[in-house]
Order: sequence, then structure tokens, then C-alpha cells
Amino acid sequence: MNRVMRHDPLPPSLFTENRARLARLLPPRSVAIVNANDILPTNADGSILMRPNSDLFYLTGVEQEESILVLFPDADDEKMREVLFLREGNEHNELWEGHKLRKDEAQKLTGMTQIKWSQDFWGMLRRMICEADHVFINSNEHKRSSCEVETRDERFIREVQRRYPLHTYRRLAPLLHECRVVKSAAEIAVIQRACGLTGKAFKRVLKFTKPGKTETDVEAEFAHEFIRNRARFAYEPIVAAGKNACCLHYQENVAPLKDGQLLLLDVGSGYANYASDMTRTIPVNGKFSKRQRSIYDAVLRVLRASTQRLAPGVLPKDWQKAAEAQMTEELLKLGLLKPKDVKKQDPENPAVKKYFMHGLGHPIGLDVHDVGDTTKPMQAGWVMTVEPGIYIPKEEMAVRLEDTVLVTEKGPVNLMGKIPLEADEIEAAMR
Ligand code: GLY
Ligand code: MN
Ligand code: MN
Repeated sequence: MNRVMRHDPLPPSLFTENRARLARLLPPRSVAIVNANDILPTNADGSILMRPNSDLFYLTGVEQEESILVLFPDADDEKMREVLFLREGNEHNELWEGHKLRKDEAQKLTGMTQIKWSQDFWGMLRRMICEADHVFINSNEHKRSSCEVETRDERFIREVQRRYPLHTYRRLAPLLHECRVVKSAAEIAVIQRACGLTGKAFKRVLKFTKPGKTETDVEAEFAHEFIRNRARFAYEPIVAAGKNACCLHYQENVAPLKDGQLLLLDVGSGYANYASDMTRTIPVNGKFSKRQRSIYDAVLRVLRASTQRLAPGVLPKDWQKAAEAQMTEELLKLGLLKPKDVKKQDPENPAVKKYFMHGLGHPIGLDVHDVGDTTKPMQAGWVMTVEPGIYIPKEEMAVRLEDTVLVTEKGPVNLMGKIPLEADEIEAAMR
């Protein structure tokens, strides 16, 4: 179903520049094809609100189902160099589903001149493909994706290869990852806006939270602030009190908040399809106990130092190692690890993993766990999360802190720098 854009329009120059970036990475005489996402069914006649395909959005700004972008930068006919195919609106589909993009609207949105209806796709593709040597097709190549459902891209790969078995087919995903991981100024502005809304909602939650409320109540406060600002949750929020916070992907968000507990909030707004990702951990009653505070401050020191270590040229795995070394020292000071635990540790599975078992951070952008080759050194323009934590099931608590941070040549820029973080600030805001 087409969604009338919920967000302010983004500048078409953003998409024009993104297409140019991708075109520069294509070898001569290449066609590249990018499909929209499917509308996924639920039960009965239900479906999930379509999540726009991030690559298609990156290159066009289009959020409409069944859209297809074809890039053929070396086409002899100038009109074949960039073509967007759209599902045409008619009385019937617009009655039930709402407005579909007109050609002039699509031109304005995308900065493209050649807009066609989907029924012309295979005919026009024939003219392009017969002039090309390489066909670049998209696929979701995120390392941690586990997907049982055959995607639109996979069905498309079968069909195009059936029609043109003798072409060379190549993977578009690595090229798109190379482009998408480095954010432009226009993209950073949108991510900053999402971070700002997350902060605004968090401040509301700081005033709201107290014993007797529930995790659900807190989630609803975030939802209220996000929705009225035309944003959404960028991912399923984690609102976890007490020992619930020790489950890394806790999502029930239903337990009552009790006096003396810590409440872990891993919540970020998404605006114009760009994500923010924040974690804060706050005392339900507004005051950290001494023990909670010492764990909190340990995590905060690792967050601060890890943020400072974000720089062009740094290898993500070295960044992780440095944080683990620092966290090991913190855990020794807290008495959670003993020197002998560290001395006899297996380097493959160091002692620190007992309390800090996940990654320190990930690229973020159109996707929360964004695409990008993290075996390569960071570059200026990467936006990374920084998210150390300490999880202590025996004490029924966990502390994780997470910011969304831009890597630059001149040092890290914390896009969440205005969101309360110091324990004293949190307590003051909760009073
Ligand atoms: N909210 C998901 C994550 O922190 O990676
Ligand atoms: Mn998070
Ligand atoms: Mn994260």
C-alpha cells in the first residue's frame, strides 16, 4: 500500500548524488536493477505496513510498492541511463490503498526525468540489457540476516536469468554497502533529527517514570512523542526493568516497575526512514543506589573512551578489543572479575564476555544495523553506535548506555550529545 509521505520531503539532490556515487562504482556497460520490498502478509487478510527498501529509498526516495529502478550509465540513449518504473494508480487501487505517485510527482521526488509505468518494464529492460555486458542485481547481504521467505529480489533474479541466461550477473549489494556506509551531510541532518526526537521522548520519560508504572506505560510515552512528530520506532523498543534487562533482546515490555530497580531503555526514533539508536539506564525511583551508581559510572567511562576512539582508519575489531580491555579493568575494580579469571582466560573467549558479551557498536543509517563492511577501517562519514554494557543476572540488573556518533577527521561528533547521560543529570531530571 502506498503511504503518502509522513515526513518532510528530503532534497532530491540527495538521491541524485547517491545515484551518481553508485554509477561511479559500476564497471563499463553495466545495468543495475533495484526492486522495492514486498508487502508481507500476516494472518487472514492482514499485512505488515510496508517497510521501504532501503537501497531503493537511498537511490530515489521512493516508498511505493512494486517500484523498480534501472541504472544504465553507459546507455547510448540518454533516456535509458536512469529509469524508474512505478505501479500506476487507478480508480480502484487508489480507492482502497490511497494515492499513487504521478509521473511529475516522482520526478520532483527523485530528481529523475524518466518515469515509466511497471507494465513497460520487461520491454524496456530488453532494450537496455541487450546493450549491456554486466547485470548487477540487488540482494540483502547483511551477515546476520536470517530470512526464510523468498524475497522480491530472489524471485526477480530467477526471472531475469531465465530470460537472459547468457549475461554475466553480479552482486550489487557490496557496491551499495560501500556507498551507504559513508553518510552525506544531508543524511547526517536526518539522522540528527531522529536523534533529537529520541532525546525529546527520553526527557518526557525521565519525568514520567516512577514505581507503580509499567514497562508498557513507558513504551507508550515514547510512542506518543514519536508519532506526534511523524516519526516511528526505528526498531522494536526494549523497555526492561530489573532482571529483564539481562535478556539482550527483551521485547515483552509489560512488567511493573518496582522501587529500587534499574530500567533499561533501548529505544530510537526513525524519521524519514533513517534510524537513531539510543540506550539509557535509569533508576525507577529516581535515585541510583551506591552499587548501581558504581556500575553505571563504569559503563559510562567505557562509553566515553570508546566514543573518543572512533576515528578514520580505526579497525572496528581493534575498537572492540580496546573497549574489552578497558571493561576488563572496570570489572576487576567492581569485583565482578577476579585477577585469576583474567590471568587464566581463554583469548578466544575472554573473561569480560561473561558481563559484556555483545558488540560495542554498529553502523547505523537507513537500517539500524546498517550495511557496510566492518572488516575495513572506519572512514569519515560513518555513523556508529557505541553501546557498552554490564549484565549481572545474579543482581537482577543490567546497565547499557548507547549513543549514535558521527566519525569525522576532526574527531567524533556525538549526535546524542544533548541527551541526558551523566548519573547526576538523570537524577536531576527525574526529581
Ligand atoms: N537497538 C538495537 C541495538 O542496539 O543494536
Ligand atoms: Mn540500541
Ligand atoms: Mn545499537
